Amino acid sequence: MRYAGKAFLIRAMAKLIHDEGIGLDVVSEGELYTALSAGFPPSDIEMNGNAKSRREIQYSVDSGVGRIIVDHPDELKTIEEYAEKAGRVQRVMIRVAPGVDAHTHKYIATGSTDSKFGVPADSREGSMLTEAIRFARTCPHIDMTGLHFHVGSQLFETEDFTKSVEVILRLMKSLKDNLNFTTHELNMGGGFGAVINPSIPAMKSEFYTEPMMKTLVDGCKSYGLEIPCAILEPGRWIISEAGITLYTVENVRELPEITYIAVNGGMSDNPRYALYQAEYNAVKIDDVDGEIYRPSNGGKVSIVGKCCESGDILIDDAEIQRVKAGDVIALYNTGAYTFSMSSTYNCLPRPAVVFVENGEAKVVAERQSLEDIIRGQSV
Ligand code: LLP
Repeated sequence: MRYAGKAFLIRAMAKLIHDEGIGLDVVSEGELYTALSAGFPPSDIEMNGNAKSRREIQYSVDSGVGRIIVDHPDELKTIEEYAEKAGRVQRVMIRVAPGVDAHTHKYIATGSTDSKFGVPADSREGSMLTEAIRFARTCPHIDMTGLHFHVGSQLFETEDFTKSVEVILRLMKSLKDNLNFTTHELNMGGGFGAVINPSIPAMKSEFYTEPMMKTLVDGCKSYGLEIPCAILEPGRWIISEAGITLYTVENVRELPEITYIAVNGGMSDNPRYALYQAEYNAVKIDDVDGEIYRPSNGGKVSIVGKCCESGDILIDDAEIQRVKAGDVIALYNTGAYTFSMSSTYNCLPRPAVVFVENGEAKVVAERQSLEDIIRGQSV
């Protein structure tokens, strides 16, 4: 199991993941640097990414990452070059797009044949995939251990996963028959859904893994294939629920058809409504069981941010207790893709991150200062 660091990665998170005995998937030199700086063992890290720079490949090889997930066949040449220089054999896997259109927002569906990620799951002679495998075999410093796919994110059904596994099984079979390529390892990506409503428990991992593993094992048996070592790399399923964002209400604006609750953050710390119309739930922290506020004019209540955009919405149609300026509200299930996707838009400093365990709180990432906002700039 690997944790997809893109969901949320700071040094303390890297340490926590390692302490839990989980590996790490990174997609940039910045994520790799963060993990290594926290003492994450490089051999438990895999480097992913659809547009790796030469420097990122060199850094990955030189740091001794366990696997590089090759997304474009051109990477192989660079990996061989740096692995030779480093005098080591680099393990790699190749990412394939299974050609399955996942049932999710189009921005987070990644498995279709026209996806920008990976090579098409096509084992015909002369395809990108067969050429890449052939080329890798000519590289003495590359060991291609298997295949990788990631069909999409925030999936609540298992069909997209099992369909993808079926495609990959056919691929594994034809790669075995035509190229004598054995898939020793199969990384089936992440994508397990994260719940948005705190009163609904998250799906158990078995909900996803049992049908996936059954499809894989049955398929390998019927095709006469070795069962590969199966790897998963969920992100949000691990961290989403653990995150709560606290905002202070700056003002409440009651208009004839809508009531706005404006808070001291917004799309700069959580752009997910703006990007994917992601849904959240919020409560007033000192009145969590209080009555939900229904404006007398019947209009909806929207929780909005302080950025200069009408699309800076956190919850479009919120169910929350009556609040006033100065009250603190909490948005649940904001652990994934919020801090990691935050920006300093409007020169807003990024918020702090606080880990809480058994009633003890620890600041693990400081709130950015105004000096941080201008760091490195000159006039
Ligand atoms: N593995 C690979 C290769 C991926 O591309 C991703 C997500 C994951 C694992 C983890 O997916 P997860 O288990 O977290 O769904 N910013 C978007 C999500 C982008 C996900 C991209 N890749 C959002 O906020 O929903």
